[in-house]
Amino acid sequence: MTSVISATGLWTPKDSISNEELVVAFNAWSNKWNAEHSDAIAAGTKEAKPLSSAEFVEKASGIKSRYVISKAPILNPDIMAPRIPERPNDEISILAEISVAAAKDALAKTGRQPEDIDAVIVACSNLQRAYPAIAIEVQDALGTGGKTGGFAFDMNVACSSATFGIETARGLIAGGQAKSVLVCNPEMCSAHLNFKDRDSHFIFGDVATAILVEADSIAPAGAWKILGSKLATQFSNNIRNNFGFLNNAAPEGIGNDDKLFIQNGRKVFKEVVPLVASLITEELDNSGISTNQIKRMWLHQANLSMNTLIAKKVMGKDVDMDMAPVVLDEYANTSSAGSIIAFDKHSDDFEAGDTGLICSFGAGYSAGVVVVRKT
Ligand code: COA
Repeated sequence: MTSVISATGLWTPKDSISNEELVVAFNAWSNKWNAEHSDAIAAGTKEAKPLSSAEFVEKASGIKSRYVISKAPILNPDIMAPRIPERPNDEISILAEISVAAAKDALAKTGRQPEDIDAVIVACSNLQRAYPAIAIEVQDALGTGGKTGGFAFDMNVACSSATFGIETARGLIAGGQAKSVLVCNPEMCSAHLNFKDRDSHFIFGDVATAILVEADSIAPAGAWKILGSKLATQFSNNIRNNFGFLNNAAPEGIGNDDKLFIQNGRKVFKEVVPLVASLITEELDNSGISTNQIKRMWLHQANLSMNTLIAKKVMGKDVDMDMAPVVLDEYANTSSAGSIIAFDKHSDDFEAGDTGLICSFGAGYSAGVVVVRKT
């Protein structure tokens, strides 16, 4: 059975941090650390912390700012992390709350009611707890599923969670489990970012997106028909986060840098660009679509040069921002939500018959491409 994307939704935090603000905080922390460890640095037993630069950040990544849920503590050199107090169990969790906000935006665009939704998938890079599933909390908060309540579950494929989520929803629809599936991508990336690591302190921002995937038989006017999709994974240690339940069984490692996001950005860049370009080309071949039929690529938003290079490899020529729109300048890397923000903000000009592709990539490595046509 054919599936469509009926609508997408977006929730953006109100506060944003510019590169300049972030670098001032990082450098204050770095100078303070160096002063506190001046004897060890002079004796050669500790290495001085280097300074960051706003010019480097924009040049190397294309990022100018990022939205965050908790701004002040991130910019406080004595904290350098967001501060989001634990909530009692009878209050909605933060990940469910921002998922619901993005979901309401998607639902409002289609006129669908929560009870029209059969299943909820929360697909994102970091889940705030093991159970109960955030998706079941979203199901409960929205009141999805009509009389039986339907079902909900969480999944994590890092930055590729949204495309893997769309494909999972498509499978549920094809298998007759559901006709309407809500996929939410709550990405609170600031909480797994090491703001004391110069190589990566600028990379991420917070956001939530939602995608309503439905059977063609109930598609609203103007829905996006899914023409084809391809997923790929390939093991790599170049992007890791070793935070997990087994940390409790190895207390000596708690608080180490590897319990937050850590990457070898250069290697990621070099290895992921060809992997993603071939995946897109393969999927276009499979779907019998030529590159000149592609009006736009809504790519994962990690690095501007990376996207320019991927788009160039796929199209066989230089492309402009109309072909591969950029949101990372304003949002930074928002993990799985990035390509969906780009789609949400840059698809209104599509007319019936226009074709484009959503593509995500990241840790694992993982990559997913979904080809869509406006109806
Ligand atoms: N400020 C100033 N200088 C910095 C810096 C900072 N914040 N961070 C690194 N540098 C320095 C490095 O020390 C290095 O100096 P050297 O040449 O003297 O050794 C130089 O700048 C280049 O560093 P490098 O890490 O090689 O930069 P880069 O050009 O590879 O850019 C990334 C870094 C992270 C922006 C880039 O590699 C990237 O985006 N990669 C892909 C990441 C990705 O997609 N990840 C997926 C996450 S889900």
